[in-house]
Amino acid sequence: MQELLIDKQHDEKRQGEAYAPFQSDANTYKRHFYIESYGCQMNFSDSEIVASILYDQGYGATRNFEEADLILLNTCSIREKAEQTVRKRLSEFKKLKKAKPAMLVGVLGCMAERLKAKFLEEEKLVDIVVGPDAYRTLPDLIAEAGGGQKAVNVLLSREETYADIAPVRLNSNGITAFVSIMRGCNNMCSFCVVPFTRGRERSRDAASILHECQELFDAGYKEVTLLGQNVDSYYYISDSEPKPVTFANLLEMVALISPDLRVRFSTSHPKDITDDVLHTMAKHENICKYIHLPLQSGSTRVLQLMNRNYTREWYMAKVDRIREIMPDCGISSDIIAGFCTETEDEHKDTVSLMEYAGYDMSYMFFYSERPGTLAQRRYQDDIPEDVKKRRLQEIVETQNRLSLQSNKKDIGKTVRVLIEANSRRSEEAWMGRNSQNKVVIFPKESFDLKPGDYVNVRIADCSQATLFGSIV
Ligand code: 5AD
Ligand code: SF4
Repeated sequence: MQELLIDKQHDEKRQGEAYAPFQSDANTYKRHFYIESYGCQMNFSDSEIVASILYDQGYGATRNFEEADLILLNTCSIREKAEQTVRKRLSEFKKLKKAKPAMLVGVLGCMAERLKAKFLEEEKLVDIVVGPDAYRTLPDLIAEAGGGQKAVNVLLSREETYADIAPVRLNSNGITAFVSIMRGCNNMCSFCVVPFTRGRERSRDAASILHECQELFDAGYKEVTLLGQNVDSYYYISDSEPKPVTFANLLEMVALISPDLRVRFSTSHPKDITDDVLHTMAKHENICKYIHLPLQSGSTRVLQLMNRNYTREWYMAKVDRIREIMPDCGISSDIIAGFCTETEDEHKDTVSLMEYAGYDMSYMFFYSERPGTLAQRRYQDDIPEDVKKRRLQEIVETQNRLSLQSNKKDIGKTVRVLIEANSRRSEEAWMGRNSQNKVVIFPKESFDLKPGDYVNVRIADCSQATLFGSIV
């Protein structure tokens, strides 16, 4: 059974992706770091900040962990399975470390924050533990660990946004990039460990965001995805400008960099997304018509237990509003099956709401109790695993049907595609995405095109996950 689908925010298919810039640094640097990232896009984006800090210290990146002096795992705590994967990986590195005692192993990210110094005892042979707000101290921690001390910094901050650090783009296709616009989360959804591992919400200086996006565009990038746990609550007041910057303002400022720079964002919260944001999206062709709007559950009672602060009806009205303002907007979702006390009828409410929204795609999970969360403290995780899995399966089947339906509607349409790379299946075909974030595959034919080019493609066929067409 497919336990989960792949998430932009918590993309577990990319789990453990080894990270290094395209150019090989093998001969330029004396010391090398190897970094693997797990979980959400924010973690992948953080790894690019960590890389920048390490480059400044004279470390080069390597894709081969065996030649590394420093191995880093940027970890995720969102579900138990994510943590198990990291532990397994650490035990593999242990063998290497026994043979190469001078090599340091560090754990970054949410698991580091959640387990703190306990990590050093639990996973012997881990040398460094660094939480998401403490990456600036990594050089000191490396020095401490190199001297045989325990090196831990898991202090959370109310201010840190790494605004001034220029990320080193790792594993980049040179066309699309993530730009972090805020950190932390104040929402306290009862199932979620993020507010505990990533701390309070804070917004990054708007000028530094614009500067980063402009630099990306100047370097040939054609798409930026603005990242935050809850982008709709972005709010920045600078010392020099009396007017605060809202998310709608920020979106517009980034969109105005160039009509050739596509703008995406993730994640929106149904309680917070405003008409202002929707109108801004509608106004600018280059703001992609795609919203990731996690539902979690279609039952008002369960939503209340989840502390989501909206009802079934509120969510439906948001979907109506999006479609009213942007009839062609793609919508995707996150859904949790089998949350505490969920009844069979409440599960059916989730399925019926999925159908109402007609999602193009969803990331689907069964509930995994996380230590320290509100739900763990307040409610019993009382839905048996086989029931959770069966409900999840029904949700996955519903989504598969909806995705195919949505793709079939595109047959015959001509869509604008940003070319990202060769198709994985054939060097003779391009892979790109349309505004709605759907993957489009089409033959190169004799046209002289390259990644980063926009092209109009007429859709002739589809699968549940992909559109197929030809250049017009
Ligand atoms: N169990 C299952 N899924 C979870 N998510 C967050 N916490 C949990 C949990 N404890 C899901 C939510 C969220 C997505 C990123 O991960 O659907 O939107
Ligand atoms: Fe977790 Fe909710 Fe914050 Fe998303 S909005 S990170 S689900 S607490």
